[in-house]
Amino acid sequence: MHIFSAIVWLGGLMYQGAVVSPVVQQQGEAARVLQKMMGKRFSGFVWMSAWTMAATGTILMLLSPRFIWFRYADRWSVYLLLKQIIFILLVFYAFGLARMEVYLGSPSSNGGFNERAELYKMRVAQYRTISIALGIAAMLLAAAM
Ligand code: HEM
Repeated sequence: MHIFSAIVWLGGLMYQGAVVSPVVQQQGEAARVLQKMMGKRFSGFVWMSAWTMAATGTILMLLSPRFIWFRYADRWSVYLLLKQIIFILLVFYAFGLARMEVYLGSPSSNGGFNERAELYKMRVAQYRTISIALGIAAMLLAAAM
């Protein structure tokens, strides 16, 4: 379950960033409307994955003989701590992405063509790239644990 939630969350972000966004940029307005609908639907999967990852990660941690509360003496504990910090950052960026995608899908964004919407479109791409980089770092830390 822990690994599956990482695959859904990070895989989805990579698909959005590397497959959907470049195609939408070429295709114009109709594709942008579809992208907004897909982004809104995907954020439901993000929250499902985040909760599952937090719950299963905590269970794995508490069941592991290597886990000692507030002791970061060995590599395993330090990597776990770094992964938890990355997880909190990923949730922070997911919140930002979800809020901006709601705004971009709302009438007040004037179809995504006012100043704030232009800024948000740029931020959404930035947040997605940062989240993908953080996710890859977490996967590498997990493999090294
Ligand atoms: C940031 C996102 C995260 C990703 C991408 C991630 C990924 C993974 C992966 C792929 C594994 C399996 C490693 C293996 O079997 O070799 C794993 C194991 C584990 N994860 Fe995560 N994880 C994340 C967040 C967390 C969080 C937030 C916690 C704790 C609350 C956590 C606790 C654990 C534990 C305890 C293990 C087992 C390690 C072991 O058996 O040595 N993970 N994680």
